[in-house]
Amino acid sequence: MKCSCALRRRGAAPFALLCFASVFAAPMLAQVNYNAGNRMLRPVNYREWIWLSSGYGTAYVPETSGREDPNPLFHNVFVNSAAYRAFLQTGKWPDKTVFVLELRASVEKGSINQRGRFQGEVQHLEVHVKDERRFPNKWAFFSFSPTASAANMIPVTQDCYACHEQHGALDTTFAQFYPTVREVAKRKGTLKPDR
Ligand code: HEC
Repeated sequence: MKCSCALRRRGAAPFALLCFASVFAAPMLAQVNYNAGNRMLRPVNYREWIWLSSGYGTAYVPETSGREDPNPLFHNVFVNSAAYRAFLQTGKWPDKTVFVLELRASVEKGSINQRGRFQGEVQHLEVHVKDERRFPNKWAFFSFSPTASAANMIPVTQDCYACHEQHGALDTTFAQFYPTVREVAKRKGTLKPDR
């Protein structure tokens, strides 16, 4: 972490220590921004956050068409680093936690690949964010098409909320599918065991 404090630039050693202390004690900064119309701006640097898991072709409703999906998506899940560090201490998601679910195409033909599938282009981004002051239920969902630069909050009547509430093992998140999170939450006693 870079400290841009003027004192440090002047090289005053005792003040430099203070400067570092103030950086680490700073309250958790929001990782996503909103425009004047309360629309969330597309998160840009989530690829530098903590990677939690990559589901492949996972689906949560029974298949009724009788056909296998020929092009299952990868589900890459990221959480902002400050929230993850706090979670390691407490087993809970702090205020201002942001998850990004990045849905990517899976590709079979390319380069020297003979079997299996690797990750292609982004198809969609979904965001799950905890902000106690901004949202009445603390958590909210947003969804971005590949070209969207901003998104409205998804209304609480949409099924995102009900499924995450009923089946998420840790505070409306799917901790049971993120191996390192699952372990920590189990140890801290915050994981709902039957989900
Ligand atoms: C039927 C259940 C279900 C519904 C409905 C659902 N999800 Fe999820 N969601 C999941 C599961 C299971 C995961 C675990 C990760 C994965 O996708 O592999 C997940 C993970 C996520 C994550 C990663 C963070 C977390 O909370 O674990 C985001 C973001 C997300 N979903 C957004 C959405 C949005 C936006 C909607 C509505 C448009 C939605 N979900 C609807 C089941 C659901």
